[in-house]
Amino acid sequence: MSKSILVAVAWPYANAEIHVGNITGAYLPADIFARYHRLCGNHVLMVSGSDAHGTPITVRADAEGKTANEVYKNYHNGFLNLFMQLGITYDLFTTTHSENHFKVSQTIFKRLLENGYLYKETEKQWYSPDENRFLPDRYVEGTCYICGYESARGDQCDGCGSILDGKKLVGPRSRIGNVFLELRDTEHFFLDLAKLAPQISEYLAKDKSHWRSNVIKSSRYTVDEIGLHGRAITRDLDWGIPVPLSEWDDKCLYVWFEAVIGYLSASIEWASNEGHPSLWHNWWYKSEALSYYFIGKDNIPFHAVIWPAELAGVGRIFPQDPESSLNMPYDVSANEFMNLEGQKISGSRNWAVWGLDVVERYGPDPVRYYLTINMPETKDTDWSWAEFQQRNNDQLVATWGNLVNRVSSFSYKNFDNRVPEPGDLSPPDYELLDVIKSGFDDVGDLLGTTKMRAALQEALKLAGEVNKYLDKQEPWFAIKSDPDKASRSIYTALKAIDSLKIIFSPFLPFSSEKLHKYLGYEGTLFGKQSTRIVGKESWSHTVLEYSNKTAVGAWEPSELPQGQLLRKPFPLFHKLDKDIVSEEMERLGD
Ligand code: MF3
Ligand code: ZN
Repeated sequence: MSKSILVAVAWPYANAEIHVGNITGAYLPADIFARYHRLCGNHVLMVSGSDAHGTPITVRADAEGKTANEVYKNYHNGFLNLFMQLGITYDLFTTTHSENHFKVSQTIFKRLLENGYLYKETEKQWYSPDENRFLPDRYVEGTCYICGYESARGDQCDGCGSILDGKKLVGPRSRIGNVFLELRDTEHFFLDLAKLAPQISEYLAKDKSHWRSNVIKSSRYTVDEIGLHGRAITRDLDWGIPVPLSEWDDKCLYVWFEAVIGYLSASIEWASNEGHPSLWHNWWYKSEALSYYFIGKDNIPFHAVIWPAELAGVGRIFPQDPESSLNMPYDVSANEFMNLEGQKISGSRNWAVWGLDVVERYGPDPVRYYLTINMPETKDTDWSWAEFQQRNNDQLVATWGNLVNRVSSFSYKNFDNRVPEPGDLSPPDYELLDVIKSGFDDVGDLLGTTKMRAALQEALKLAGEVNKYLDKQEPWFAIKSDPDKASRSIYTALKAIDSLKIIFSPFLPFSSEKLHKYLGYEGTLFGKQSTRIVGKESWSHTVLEYSNKTAVGAWEPSELPQGQLLRKPFPLFHKLDKDIVSEEMERLGD
């Protein structure tokens, strides 16, 4: 029976370009997972969007001398472009700056209020009489009360790395105006996490054996050992979603409070774009639906504690919804970080490999390959150009690319542009096909449990088995001495490759599509992706959508028809020259 699977992917802040660490941290594993489940015939809904609000965006806007709206739009459009090029198949990639997201977030705020999970409290906050406004912690500078560093920010000190209490900064000044500041009272809404704690504890106490141990351990620790207390969910900011109460509309919902709501609002937006406005219920209200969240490790508490708390506090969102509560995350699959040549990735120091650049220079599949075989699933990993070049040549090209190339060109030349018609197969042929067949289970089990790295290694091992088989059968020589045997082994190898095309396709979709064509098929393994503008006038926004209505692939051994007409094959991948390593190293740093 097919399952409903929500693939919820972290929302990138629309304040910087996406680099390889972001891709391997969340977007790529989510895409591999979604593609695999689509091939299994499951109902996948993969959603995300730009995280458009909060100080991360306004700080960048100040730095670039632009409005927050311009900054968000610019990066957002860059994201759509990258995800198209890299083949990250969101059913919908939207934005938190949409009319729908505003409405859904404000509705959730009101439900939490009605259900008694919000309270008000007055706090002290730095106020700039000159600018006539409260300053977010990020905008306040002063001397660190821990280490004495003079340009500490209200939220954090770059001198000693401590997280600071902005109110305690010595000699505070506004980052922008360098003017005198005073502490003034300001009222905010708080999410009553203490009241929600029993529900969160209960949720986290249920079977989580399918969770990565660091994720469940740190979440249980946060709830049970540190303890939960109220968290302010409103801010004195004008870029964001207004608090939906009269007298409060000069304040905004805190960016983290509303960004996580994006998973739900994007599902609602997707359903209405499809013309079936309640279709999202399948993923959010059906108890058998499963939701998988793909995020970086710095986002764990927001997804494993805060978001479940919001969901638990809401119950069900609209009065016309089914009589059940919104589904909690089934799995929170958090990755660690990827460094670059042994150092932390840093945009400001130009120590980064940008997604769009690297895809333009090497094509999507070689990048996807390296990012998957090196995915930081259980520990931090490192992007090294020497390793990139070497793995491309010695693994991707040598084991998979060359296999495809020699078998498909050989049959194209020697069997009249067709798949050979061998008659009965012999035992070594069956044996190979059995190994490939069981590969679907092995690789599938790993993919289903979000072990992308091991799954790709297993797929590569299967390609190695086909190479071994060919080394033994030697059809290149048998074609003269024993043509029947040659046709049996070329047929067998082609059939194995045809199946491996499916097994590799979640990782390497572009080359699998090409191979699908070379093997003579019509149609595509996966469907199409496109961008379009939705919404009206001032509320319009660009989105990326994916439709798999034309896809023909299935997660099972393929039945390559004997005698099928082949198309002229070309190499799927190319060897990289050693020189690229020094060229790429030159680009790094200031
Ligand atoms: N924008 C955040 C980050 O880049 C991630 C937000 S995930 C969301 O760290 F679900 F909250 F949107
Ligand atoms: Zn300090």
